[in-house]
Amino acid sequence: MTNEKSLALYEEANRYTPGGVHTSIRNVEPHLIFTKAEGAYIYDADGNRYVDYQAAFGPFILGHNFNKVNDRVVDALSRTDLYGVGTTDLEIECASKIAKHVPSAEQVLFCNSGSEATYHAIRLSRAVTERRKLIKFQGCYHGWHDYVARNMLSAPDMIGKRDPGSAGMMDEAIDNTLICTFNDLEEVERTFQENKDEIAAIIVEPIPHNIGCIMPEEGFLQGLRDLCNQYGALLIFDEVITGFRHNIGGYQSVSGVTPDLTTMGKAMANGFPMAAVAGKKEYMQRYNTYPGGDVWFAGTYNGHAVGTSAAIATMEVMENEPVHQHIFELGDRMRNGIREIHERLGIKAIVAGFGSVWTTYFMDFEPKNYTDLMQNDAEMYVTYRKKLLEHGFFKMPMNIKRNHISYSHTKENIDETLQAIEDVLKEMV
Ligand SMILES: Cc1ncc(COP(=O)(O)O)c(C=O)c1O
Repeated sequence: MTNEKSLALYEEANRYTPGGVHTSIRNVEPHLIFTKAEGAYIYDADGNRYVDYQAAFGPFILGHNFNKVNDRVVDALSRTDLYGVGTTDLEIECASKIAKHVPSAEQVLFCNSGSEATYHAIRLSRAVTERRKLIKFQGCYHGWHDYVARNMLSAPDMIGKRDPGSAGMMDEAIDNTLICTFNDLEEVERTFQENKDEIAAIIVEPIPHNIGCIMPEEGFLQGLRDLCNQYGALLIFDEVITGFRHNIGGYQSVSGVTPDLTTMGKAMANGFPMAAVAGKKEYMQRYNTYPGGDVWFAGTYNGHAVGTSAAIATMEVMENEPVHQHIFELGDRMRNGIREIHERLGIKAIVAGFGSVWTTYFMDFEPKNYTDLMQNDAEMYVTYRKKLLEHGFFKMPMNIKRNHISYSHTKENIDETLQAIEDVLKEMV
């Protein structure tokens, strides 16, 4: 495999853009530049083909350049775009589909990214409760803004401590976000007791996929629901990854726990920029899209024809075709196959996952939270992924990142991936 053209493009990009990339964690070695995407595959500038499991951090649930979605976007753009006044037929259709499928979504508002959605949901929770503080879990990611950008992939000695993710953040924002341990209800309850009448909301990824795949233990999500009810706080499920990917109604449909507010993005529009905040009507009508609402909600591009038509088409494919059955079956095939390989080779590792998402932690017990993941052999994790990349399977070569299967992946893709995994692990042990 040669990477000459990729490297030349990366060098040129560095002349115009700091670090040559437009999102921090895209700056990874090797510096491959992709120029074509189709179904389960991505192609770099040198013409090398990869089976893609990175899926741009999750949006591609149907696969890249999926015709039924692309055609709908082209069709929409042949007659409409954006007006900046009133609503559109596409916005109405898209919102009604979400309201139909997502249990917590009595009403819906659109924005363009997951970070916007979590910002809006948190602001609303503060307005509703007239409180300031938030509970967030160590290791979870909810976007780049000051309310939530702390205690993400913390260094071992910073777990649970004051760990802002960026210079330039407001102290008040950092200090009003309290950090708890995922799957530890007692700690959450203690935090409520120590901050009586001060906590506006809990924000949580119902499955923390930003650290691979840590499953909520039986009763944990319901416990958060109960504590929020007891202490008068709102429960926000950040379903930017889990939404649409695990079920058209989000992980809340799977778990049976209904939050007050939900944030969505990524798989919602199969790779087109689109996000939403949704929730109970009594709360949603506090936004000032509703006459008299006192919580600011705005965005020039909100509800653009590109995102709304893509989301409608994506949901329609999920409604009419066995998308989830297919990706769940392939997910099981992958996880079971990897476990068999580990057994054959005597490798101590945990294959974690749910539905179409999986990852391999190189450790010998099932992790329950971010602290447990400090036992994962990070060097092995990254080397393993780099070696798979050399074999033509693209998994982000970074520690504790997840992989995604799409509707365009086939059994053959899974089986060839398993073969490569076995070859790579044999090389490594
Ligand atoms: C759970 C979760 N919430 C929010 C976000 C932020 O979304 P965006 O990158 O679209 O702003 C992400 C992004 O990875 C995410 O994984």
